[in-house]
Amino acid sequence: MSEVLISLSNLSKSFTSGAGAVNVLNNINLDIDRGQCVALVGQSGSGKSTLLSIIGLLDNASSGHYTLCDTSVTTLSHYQLSILRNKNIGWIFQNFNLVSELTVLKNVELPMRYNSDVKKADYEAIAMKQLCLVGLQDKANSYPDQLSGGQQQRVAIARALVGEPDMLLCDEPTGNLDSKNSEQITDLLLELNQRGTTVLIVTHDNELAKRCQRIIHIIDGEITP
Ligand SMILES: Nc1ncnc2c1ncn2[C@@H]1O[C@H](COP(=O)(O)OP(=O)(O)O)[C@@H](O)[C@H]1O
Ligand SMILES: [Mg+2]
Repeated sequence: MSEVLISLSNLSKSFTSGAGAVNVLNNINLDIDRGQCVALVGQSGSGKSTLLSIIGLLDNASSGHYTLCDTSVTTLSHYQLSILRNKNIGWIFQNFNLVSELTVLKNVELPMRYNSDVKKADYEAIAMKQLCLVGLQDKANSYPDQLSGGQQQRVAIARALVGEPDMLLCDEPTGNLDSKNSEQITDLLLELNQRGTTVLIVTHDNELAKRCQRIIHIIDGEITP
C-alpha cells in the first residue's frame, strides 16, 4: 500500500516587498507518496523553487498546512525543523554548490560535521561509500574545478546522500549540463529512486521530466489538474 510522504493542503505563499504583497503560490493541494519520482515543471517565475523550498523546510508557507512523514511541519520549533531537515532531505542544485577549496572527499563529508550522531572516525568511509555509488571513488582527492560539470553534480549527489535521506529535492539538476551529462545525471537520479528514495525534480528538461513517474505542472503559482 502506498504511504503519503508529503501532504500539502491549501498552501499559499506571498512575499512582501516595497510594492506590497505578491502571491507566489495559491492554494496548493498536493500529496506525494513515499518512493515516487516526480517532475515539477512550469515557466520561469511560476513558483517552482519557492514550492520546493517550502517542501524542503528552507522556507515557510504564508498559510495552509504541510505534513511531512506524518508530522505537521507548521507547529515545529526551529530545532525540530533542523532535525527533520537533516534526517529526511537531500538537496541538489543547478550550480552544484560545492566548496571549491575542499577536495571531493571533504565536500562529501561536510554534512556529517553538522550531525553529532556520526563519529569523526567514520566520515571518510561513509563519504567513500557514497562516492563509489556515484562512480567517483577515484576522484576523492581532486578539487571541484578539476572535474566536468556532470562529475561535479555527481559529487553533489553523493554529498546529498550521506545522511541517507528519505527524499532528494533537485532544483534544475541538469540545468548547467550538456545533453550527455544530463542523461547520466537523469539515469543516476532514477536509479536512486529505484533504490527507494523519493525524488522531486524541478526541471525545464523535457527528456528528464518524461522519464519521471509523475509530472506536476505549475502555472502562476497554481497546480493544474
Ligand atoms: N524572496 C523573495 N522575495 C520576493 N519575491 C520572490 C522571492 N522569491 C521568489 N520571489 C518571486 O516569486 C516568483 C516565483 O519565483 P520562483 O519560485 O523562484 O520561480 P521558479 O523557480 O518557477 O522560476 C517570482 O516572481 C519571484 O520573483
Ligand atoms: Mg527556480
